[in-house]
Amino acid sequence: MKSSRWVQGRILAIAMVATFAGVAITKGHIFAAESPATTQDPAVTWSRQIAPLVYSNCTTCHHPGGAGPFSLLTYQEALRWGPQIATVTSSRYMPPWLPENGYGDFEDERRLSNEDIALIGKWVKTGMPEGDRAAAPPAPKYSETWQYGTPDLILTVERPFNLTASGTDVFRNFVLPYPLQQTHYIRAMEIHPGTPQIVHHANILIDRTASYRRQHPEQWKDGVPGMELEVDTGNEFDPDSNFLFWKPDTPVLVEPEGMPWRLDPGNDLILNMHLKPSGKPEVASAQVGLYFTDQPPSKRPMLLQLEHDSALDIPAGQRNFVVEDALQLPVDVEVLGIYPHAHYLGKRLEAWAMLPDRQKKWLILIPGWDIDRQSVYRYRNPVFLPKGSVVHMRYIYDNSSDNEHNPHIPPVRVKAGNRSEDEMAHLWLQVLPVNRPRNGRDPRLLLEEAWMRNWLSKEPDDIIPLYNLASALAGQGRHQDAVTAYQHLLALHPGDERALNELGAALQNSGDWEQAEKTYKQDIAAHPGTCDARFNLARLALKHDQASEAGQQFRTMLEQCPADAAVHSGLGVVLASEGQSAAAEAEFRAALQIDPHDFTALYNLGDLALQTSQPQQAVGLLETAVQQRPNDADAHEQLAGAYALSGRVGDAAAQLREAITLSPDNPQLHALLSQALASAGQLQQAIAERKVALHLRANDPDDWNNLGVLEARAGRIAEAREDFRHALQLAPDHAQARANLQHLPPP
Ligand code: HEC
Repeated sequence: MKSSRWVQGRILAIAMVATFAGVAITKGHIFAAESPATTQDPAVTWSRQIAPLVYSNCTTCHHPGGAGPFSLLTYQEALRWGPQIATVTSSRYMPPWLPENGYGDFEDERRLSNEDIALIGKWVKTGMPEGDRAAAPPAPKYSETWQYGTPDLILTVERPFNLTASGTDVFRNFVLPYPLQQTHYIRAMEIHPGTPQIVHHANILIDRTASYRRQHPEQWKDGVPGMELEVDTGNEFDPDSNFLFWKPDTPVLVEPEGMPWRLDPGNDLILNMHLKPSGKPEVASAQVGLYFTDQPPSKRPMLLQLEHDSALDIPAGQRNFVVEDALQLPVDVEVLGIYPHAHYLGKRLEAWAMLPDRQKKWLILIPGWDIDRQSVYRYRNPVFLPKGSVVHMRYIYDNSSDNEHNPHIPPVRVKAGNRSEDEMAHLWLQVLPVNRPRNGRDPRLLLEEAWMRNWLSKEPDDIIPLYNLASALAGQGRHQDAVTAYQHLLALHPGDERALNELGAALQNSGDWEQAEKTYKQDIAAHPGTCDARFNLARLALKHDQASEAGQQFRTMLEQCPADAAVHSGLGVVLASEGQSAAAEAEFRAALQIDPHDFTALYNLGDLALQTSQPQQAVGLLETAVQQRPNDADAHEQLAGAYALSGRVGDAAAQLREAITLSPDNPQLHALLSQALASAGQLQQAIAERKVALHLRANDPDDWNNLGVLEARAGRIAEAREDFRHALQLAPDHAQARANLQHLPPP
């Protein structure tokens, strides 16, 4: 049912000018640093100590074509930069790493130890000797091509973008439509920006409904300017799960085991790129390489946001402007990663959790924020936070002229906003719910609910959290609460098309179908072009045997809504119920033209094929139907019928067993299975199944008669006689039972 739609203000946009990207991940070329100089050999040399250090901490950026401004791959190069190397390492300016040591243990931490720093200092002081060249490790190789091997799919930006030589930073959103017709799971992604030096960060968002492309039909091929974007996540609860954050020194993003992300036909990737003019005109383009896996996700993480943009109003000159937010977790989670985000005035960024036992657990501390070095940080080990923990963020902003990053000197008043000179206060967490609640509901719905309530406590009228809260309640099966939430939304945003439709669906799910009908009609009256409310109204009418009302709505939709298989198959059901089989069949076929997997069309065409004794056709259609809805007992039963008619009794029995696992108390399924088993010659099992059917419906004369036939075939004449008599007791004019009884040999 097209009932709930999710709108998420998923904003991971980042501010401007990154002179370089934050942390680098070095894979495949880490050389163990040798122990510091011993007493026998006090000389610190490039070959023995410094090269291994530089190769594992510096050259991911400092190689030709890399994000760093020069290469440090050779001794000659290192020699040229030696004194600066000593300076920038002792000040911990390089390698770039923002988090304070001891406030969160992060994977790929890029921090030199005090010993390493001392070693570099000593090397520079003693004249930077090369040492034994033969003892030096080989320099790592950075390939220009795909580092992770040939991708399974490469997406390319439609039209390259011409970046001017100078001027302010450019933020551009490039849409990359996913061109395949099958769903794929993505275990890794690699991005090749045409010119790495001008691309400072990129965020990738998945637009499940291609909504961004629809919002910008003219522009999307050239890239749409803007730092932030909002996408419509469609009807399903399908929250963002993975940080798809890229920076130049980490070209490959490999997801942890069991946590691939998904692309479906019709999805778009949106590449949100931050470009910085380099001094000469450049062409920005990008390729995204995707690596597939056959393994669907076994773990479902979710991205959660804390923020408090509405509190950002920083007077000029203010040095310690504090912004806070807190979110209480309704379920146990493991925090896998964290992404703090502010713009140029951010100074000190803190995040921690207060556990239910009042213990404080640090998640991250960045004492000297620098937007140019922002990054997603992944924990080396997941951080467990029990239900009831409160996650806090506390950001301090410095809007004085002492802040070297302040874009305005003299300072000006700054508020939250979309431009880089505006501010932001965001904290994203990647969390994995653990210790799933017993009621089996998706725990992410509870996280969503908590998140939206927190959002509403700051912005009570914002339509996005109002929608998402109501939908989260509906998703939890709390239909009455959802009704209240949609009514509240509609009081604030009267006549909203989508909310009216969703209110209708929530009313319908809570059992009040009359109010539901009224609400759909109200939606249609206010928005005659609406398709969702018409669809729901038509389905509702069909369910209540109002075929002509349903037919009218479906026909209107065929005229005014985009080609939709469900509309054709819905109309097909209407026509079939009116006995117009030929017209119904045409509609079902039209549905399959649009969507070869439309369940309603497959199921009903299969049914028609069965009725017209075309078992081969029925098998094909119903097999596909069962693949679409493996949990639909009716579909298995129909397919069993098609197999039985084709003489495949073994397959029929297997389908009936599937149906029985889904619907164990349906006596008809046991009776049919008994029949299939009997045709396959499995008499004892057939008797057993018939008895199960009788156990579920004791008063069915046919069951008793059939049981008698089986008992007689098994040579149990006395039992058979009892069975036929039982049938006749229930239905004295049961002709078959009477004839069967007469055929039995006399006692
Ligand atoms: C994540 C990428 C990255 C890594 C890793 C990295 N650098 Fe840099 N480095 C840069 C960028 C970008 C610049 C130029 C912009 C800046 O100064 O921030 C730079 C600048 C420098 C400079 C010039 C500083 C100045 O004052 O102009 C030196 C020296 C340097 N890096 C040395 C190192 C050393 C030594 C390491 C390893 C211990 C290292 N870098 C690791 C990206 C990196």
